This record gives sequence, structure tokens and C-alpha cells, in this order.
Amino acid sequence: MKILVTGGLGFIGSHTVVELQNEGFEVVVIDNLSNSSENVLEGIQAITGKPPIFEKMDLRNKQKVQDFFSKHDDVEGVIHFAASKAVGESVENPLLYYENNLGVLVYILQELVKKDKANFIFSSSCTVYGQADKMPITEDAPVKPAESPYGNTKQVGEEIIKDTCKVNPNLSAIALRYFNPIGAHPSVEIGELPIGVPQNLVPFITQTGVGLREQLSVFGDDYPTEDGTCIRDYIHVVDVAKAHVVALQRLLNGRNDMNYEVFNLGTGKGSSVLEVIHSFENVSDKKLNYKIVDRRAGDVIQAYADTEKANSVLGWKAQSTLDEAMKSAWDWEQKIRR
Ligand code: WQD
Repeated sequence: MKILVTGGLGFIGSHTVVELQNEGFEVVVIDNLSNSSENVLEGIQAITGKPPIFEKMDLRNKQKVQDFFSKHDDVEGVIHFAASKAVGESVENPLLYYENNLGVLVYILQELVKKDKANFIFSSSCTVYGQADKMPITEDAPVKPAESPYGNTKQVGEEIIKDTCKVNPNLSAIALRYFNPIGAHPSVEIGELPIGVPQNLVPFITQTGVGLREQLSVFGDDYPTEDGTCIRDYIHVVDVAKAHVVALQRLLNGRNDMNYEVFNLGTGKGSSVLEVIHSFENVSDKKLNYKIVDRRAGDVIQAYADTEKANSVLGWKAQSTLDEAMKSAWDWEQKIRR
């Protein structure tokens, strides 16, 4: 059974391709390599024994998207990761984000609604909740006005899919709202490859640990939390990848209750920035050099998932602990810096 994975050479995409191939799916990857590298194909092959079919393409070219679906008319499902995801960049360059994250989504859906049966998994984010009023966050928590064009593209993206599913019963879709994916495949063959200075906490920690960065800046310790630093739900990227296969199989086997469903992907456990730092120190046996600085604009105080719906309806549960995820991130960082 052939599955298209857009952005399949990226961080979460590549780990999902591994899990799909482990389950026996035939995978076609489209990636424009703007935030990944073709070497990732070798990593996928090293783990699963073969690389996916790979087509380098910029999905903003509508004709190319149409040509792809004509050529691969046996694609039974699409997992759509390809999107720009840097919050700060989206503020500077909103039109790039609206074109790349929403224009492309429309082109893909226009092709899927032509098929007798289409199955679509959308890469969404807990960012749609903004600062939720209640913890843990359930899927029916209100969507808050986005704090960035990036977050807005996830909110509007979900609305586009929901509206399209309403009038196309042949299209079934699931939006997966990731909390904070971290770590790397235990084989150390694939992992996160941030370009330039990492925006996210864990790659900055591991790059500091390996000596690439001088010191981690902790963005504020005066929040109304136990230790004053922000709380997030850090989830192993392999757990996130496995959830995509479970969600796809739910649609392929017709087990979905409605033709548009939403699930949170988290561990259900919140960890503060200082707890993440201590986790790194535990697994690496190294002291991390960090200092407390001012808050970062746009940060929410806390966000961690209510996992009840994903556990009982989707039938998926995160398996790894924060330390296990952090250890995999550290092992990967040390390998790529050798
Ligand atoms: C986590 C915590 C920072 C870096 C982002 C995106 C979100 C999703 C996940 C795509 C915060 C603190 C960070 C640093 C720090 N991405 N921090 N020093 O902001 O929760 O979510 O990634 O879907 O959309 O917004 O993740 O890793 O940037 O920050 O103190 O150098 O670590 O303040 O409290 P975030 P993050």
C-alpha cells in the first residue's frame, strides 16, 4: 500500500517514514530539502533496509502537485508534514508561511477530493491552544487567537480540512496536535538536524553539552510555576511517529467515527525548563552551562496534554520517559559532532 509523506526527510517526517516502512507500507517522500538533507535517506535505509521513493519538489508549484498525483494514482494515504515551522520567521515573513503552509495544503486537498477514497493525516500543533485555561489540555479546549502567523496556519489549516471533509465524504482526515517532540531514533541513524542556531530548547541544550554553544539562556524564571520556568509536554519523536501510523491505519481500516478527527499527541506529563536541564545532566553526567535571562515574547506559561482521547479512542500511548528521550537526543548530538 503506497503512502505519500510530504516533508518526509524532516525531523518528525523521517521518523514516521521509518515506522511506516517497518509496518510494510511502500513510502513516497516529497521534500524540497529546505530544512533537511538527502543523507536522511541513508539513515532510513540503515534502519529499515531500504530507502523510500524520493521526489525533490517544491509543493508550491500547483502543476507539479497535480502531475505527482496523476503519476502516483495508487497513493492510498497522505501524511502531510511539509510546512515552515519557525515561529519568529513567520512573524517576519507571513506571506511565505501562508503560501507554503496553506496554499500547498489546498493544492493537495484538491487532488485528494478527486479520488474515490482519500486518507489524510495533518501535522498540527498544541500551539493552536495558545495559553489554555485548564491543564491538562483536552482536544475540545478552545482554540485561542494565534500568537504568530505560524500558529495561525495550523489553526486555519485545520479549518480548511474540516470544511473540505464536510462536503467530501470520500475524504477522511485526522489532525494530530503535537506537543513538544524531542529526541532521536535509538539507532542513532536519524535525528533532529536544526539549521543555524536552534530555536527549540532540547537541541540548544545538547549543542551546549557538546560544546557547540557556549551557554543556554533560560527565558525567564519568574513564571507562576513551581520553579518559575515554563512547563511543556516533551514527547519522544518515535512515539509521535508511531502515532501517525496508528492514525493512518485507523482511516485505512475505516475505524474513524467521523471523517474529520483531532487528537493531542503528548505524554500527559508537564516538565519545566529546569527539569529538562536536570534530565540532560542525569543522562549525560555533565553539568550544563546556563543562565537565566528575560522572558521570550510569545511563550505560554504551561502546556501539557490530556492524553485520554488518544489513549482510548486512537488506541495509542506514548511509551518513553523524558530521560529516555533526552538520552536519545544526547546520543544523536554526540554522533553527528564526531
Ligand atoms: C520550550 C521552552 C522556552 C529555548 C515550539 C513551537 C511549537 C512547536 C514546538 C512546532 C519554552 C524555553 C527554549 C531556549 C529556553 N513547534 N527555551 N531557552 O516554544 O514550547 O514550542 O516548538 O509545532 O509550535 O512554538 O518550544 O523548545 O522553543 O521552548 O528557555 O534557548 O524552553 O522559553 O519555555 P515551544 P521551545
